[in-house]
Amino acid sequence: MQASQFLVTSTKPPAACSPLVPNPAHHRLTAASSTVRFRQISAVAAPPKPKTHSMPPEKVEVFKSLETWATQNVLPLLKPVEKCWQPQDFLPDPTLPFSDFTDQVRALRERTAGLPDDYFVVLVGDMITEDAIPTYQTMINTLDGVRDETGASSSPWAIWNRSWTAEENRHGDLLRSFLYLSGRVDMLMIEKTVQYLISAGMDPGTENNPYLGFVYTSFQERATFISHGNTARLSKEGGDPVLARICGTIASDEKRHENAYARIVEKLLEVDPTGAMIAIADLMNKKITMPAHLMYDGHDPRLFAHFAAVAQRLGVYTAHDYADILEFLIGRWGLEKLEGLTGEGRRAQEFVCGLAPRIRRLQELADQRAKKLKPPLVKFSWIFNRELSL
Ligand SMILES: [Fe+2]
Ligand SMILES: [Fe+2]
Repeated sequence: MQASQFLVTSTKPPAACSPLVPNPAHHRLTAASSTVRFRQISAVAAPPKPKTHSMPPEKVEVFKSLETWATQNVLPLLKPVEKCWQPQDFLPDPTLPFSDFTDQVRALRERTAGLPDDYFVVLVGDMITEDAIPTYQTMINTLDGVRDETGASSSPWAIWNRSWTAEENRHGDLLRSFLYLSGRVDMLMIEKTVQYLISAGMDPGTENNPYLGFVYTSFQERATFISHGNTARLSKEGGDPVLARICGTIASDEKRHENAYARIVEKLLEVDPTGAMIAIADLMNKKITMPAHLMYDGHDPRLFAHFAAVAQRLGVYTAHDYADILEFLIGRWGLEKLEGLTGEGRRAQEFVCGLAPRIRRLQELADQRAKKLKPPLVKFSWIFNRELSL
């Protein structure tokens, strides 16, 4: 029986799960599990059909007219392959005599010895998120007016997407090899999770609309910059400067990518302020869905929520970061002072510019409620089913 024949009717969010860092796994159709109750979809009203192709067709011209601009202002933010780091720069050298290679692996294992299990759960979740790169390239290629029409198109939008994917592809490769050599995690369960996740895909609600798509990627790249920056800080504090350098190097790629996507939205705000402002409000109103929200390991149907709760507890990515990112982008895009808006555009502006304090207030209330509850213990297959408190 297909999962799409069922509607989730009851999922209780975990205590540590923030209502403000959305965990769409709570609200979406999901694979069968003993802890989730179903009823057949035929017995209830059909869920609303996802919106698609929401950008008016004439706006495809906006992206066509920005091609020269993109070539001059976006593509230079890519790094030539010969100037890029590669995973092998950070890993034990397998071409060395065997005993020298194993010495390097031993040193790697000794450095990670001081890092706790909960750190590894977050690092694994980050690696799995990176490893689902085929999904993200597909997602960008759903966007009208900027997709790669042939697979090797010479449009700057398509060149960006392929080269961005190629840069991102190194992130998962490096983290995966590092985790494999560390011996601290169950690679088989991690590999299964990656396969499930790529099969499941993602739906960030971008509706084939590049306005929504580029707002989404601006937000997400900053979120990954923050997250990898925090895993770098924690590995330095935990005694592994090499892993700190790995996470910091990935974070700096994310920053460069954030800059490219934010620059595109900045340009859209210049050429079509109302259209871009409404897109920002639309996506923030839906809440930014995390790219790995459909994560599953074959056992835990709320794996993403549990991973996100550990990341929140460790301070790697929190609801406060979500509000910080929003405030940062409001400042970067000058949204408070944006002029030339229609009435609808002004309402969108008012909504977005007032959102961060509301998010913070609601999060503080959620934090206070969570403090009164005993954090649940959850087993993670990635660390051989050892339990962690959320
Ligand atoms: Fe990445
Ligand atoms: Fe990224």
